[in-house]
Amino acid sequence: MKVINLFPLTIVQDNIMIEEIERNLLVSEIKKMKNKIDSKNKSSYAWTGDTKGHEFLFSNKLFKNLANKISNSVINYLQTLEINTDLLDIYYQRSWATITEADQKINFHTHSQSNISFAYYLLKPKNSGGIIFRSNELQNEVAKNIFTNSKMEKSLIKKANVYNSDKSMFDPIQDSIIIFPSKTPHATLPNNSNSARISISGDITIMLKNSEGFEHLMPNFKNWTKF
Ligand SMILES: [Fe+2]
Repeated sequence: MKVINLFPLTIVQDNIMIEEIERNLLVSEIKKMKNKIDSKNKSSYAWTGDTKGHEFLFSNKLFKNLANKISNSVINYLQTLEINTDLLDIYYQRSWATITEADQKINFHTHSQSNISFAYYLLKPKNSGGIIFRSNELQNEVAKNIFTNSKMEKSLIKKANVYNSDKSMFDPIQDSIIIFPSKTPHATLPNNSNSARISISGDITIMLKNSEGFEHLMPNFKNWTKF
């Protein structure tokens, strides 16, 4: 028997190499941002720069080299989807750092104001937690809720696999970048190490350079009329 999987969610994983001296510089810059506001974050949730007034990280020139490398990975992701990037203007609409201390995590959420999102692992100690994605739709749910956890406990479903799960976890290594559609629900797993995990995330907006004849993708904001 042949199993044919249709309609995948495509998530790209790439590696971005930076010099150790650059990594150390970026880490200390990010730690300064956190310490200015919130030196003792005892929360069970990670420190996220986007909600703490640091949502334009890539406008800091120290992050320019990293942003350029991430741009290349994002273009490769778009080309994997056969999107013609020659017709697009692509913007980082915001970018920020996340510091996840021991036992901290981030609950499921989406970035509904953008098109593409990413997480780059600048500092990723062993066992410091990965990322989970959740499907908006279980394509193989032949009966409502047949794949929920309680069905697993009662042995109706023998084990979770890619055909019956609505969640999938990655544990990326340091210097990995994960790129995905912004509308995809995602969460982070608790940091089970004693060292902080530092990632850099961003939200990307794509728009047409020239919208003539197009109906669906955002026309270039340069042609918008302000109130
Ligand atoms: Fe996120």
